[in-house]
Amino acid sequence: MRDDIERTLISSEDLARRVRELADEIAATYAGRPDGLVIVPILSGSVIFLADLIRCMPFKMRVGLMAVSSYRGATTQSRGARVLQPLGIDITDRHVLVLDDILDTGNTLRLVVDQLKRQNPASLRVCVLLRKPNKAPKSLQVDFVGFDIEDVFVVGYGLDYNDLYRNWPGIGVLKRELYA
Ligand code: IMP
Ligand code: MG
Repeated sequence: MRDDIERTLISSEDLARRVRELADEIAATYAGRPDGLVIVPILSGSVIFLADLIRCMPFKMRVGLMAVSSYRGATTQSRGARVLQPLGIDITDRHVLVLDDILDTGNTLRLVVDQLKRQNPASLRVCVLLRKPNKAPKSLQVDFVGFDIEDVFVVGYGLDYNDLYRNWPGIGVLKRELYA
């Protein structure tokens, strides 16, 4: 696996530090009403981020999973997004925080946010670990961002290429010759 990574963009130590800071920002935002919080991670890319983040927030919360495909497969280009598994729990009047691994074109998050808004949550916020600047529409509001990164295809810490590399501990740039 190491041979496929051109360089490390974010080390596992820097990830751990920033995830803890994000958890503190999030906990402060929901202080006073944490019992109503529902975290909605977008599968599969956000699983490792989810696991690390919520263990830094030791108050009562619910976790409701949603799976979305961005049709990437063996390519790195987004061709839209489709909900594979809708949210299975009731979020009416609850405070919802959507978690995703990375904001690129915004197709995934726009679809998720539109769908969740229709379920009348008390509030709806979005947290992404990574954001590629300038591609997502300005109308897509993101409340918490771990790192702004350059426009390169990255893997590791949950992010995949063709379902591989999710278990790489840092965020790495995939060698250019490995993808279409
Ligand atoms: P968007 O819909 O274009 O915003 O892309 C969001 C989804 O595409 C993410 O949840 C990832 O699953 C995937 N994605 C986008 N950029 C990357 C990348 O650089 N590496 C791995 N996955 C990515
Ligand atoms: Mg993916």
